[in-house]
Amino acid sequence: MNQPKTLIAPSILAADASCFREEIKRVTQAGADWIHIDVMDGVFVPNLTFGPPVIKQLRPHSNLPFDVHLMIEKPELSMAQYAEAGADMITVHVEASVHLHRTLQAIRGMGKKAGVSINPSTSVESIRYVLGEIDLVLVMSVNPGFGGQSFIAESLNKIEHLSELRRQHHHDFLIEVDGGVNAQTAKACVDAGADVLVAGSAVFGAVDYAEAMASLRAPTF
Ligand code: DX5
Ligand code: ZN
Repeated sequence: MNQPKTLIAPSILAADASCFREEIKRVTQAGADWIHIDVMDGVFVPNLTFGPPVIKQLRPHSNLPFDVHLMIEKPELSMAQYAEAGADMITVHVEASVHLHRTLQAIRGMGKKAGVSINPSTSVESIRYVLGEIDLVLVMSVNPGFGGQSFIAESLNKIEHLSELRRQHHHDFLIEVDGGVNAQTAKACVDAGADVLVAGSAVFGAVDYAEAMASLRAPTF
């Protein structure tokens, strides 16, 4: 899955929830690469969002990959529902799945891209032995649960570390960064080795979505 272009994955957590359909259409037309969908269960994180039925209803309104970020306990119990609803990538947290290796294999077994996410307090070492089983690593650069938080700079070391491990071991997972990514922090993420930038408020908080995404992409720096 490795490729040179920086991909932008707007997070609909920051979109106007009263008109998700229009927001998804607008951001797709504005040139987004993926649609990032934040699923929260009110247990793993102190916030609650949406589940498979909402994803299923949104699916026909964009041809972009749906990048589903499961911030839920025991994702193995419900991830098939997300696959069925139209997720293309399913990312689970290492902190939320005891038998992570099995969970990741099951995601791939459903024909989906498997991602694993690490919280700001979790080290890259914790996922070292599954790096050959995944399509992407999602580095949380804020504590998950809410949009609009400030970027935690230590995340850059983790992106660099992952990038180095990928090079050394010839892995081909993508490195995605999520939280506080904006025109000020995007360049450091890309320089550290990030391939995919998740951006909620930096895109949906802007008047012009295309312009906001252009300001996040490396060539415009
Ligand atoms: C946080 C979510 C993020 C969030 C990012 O728990 O995983 O995807 O929407 O929002 P911003 O870009 O506003 O920090
Ligand atoms: Zn997210």
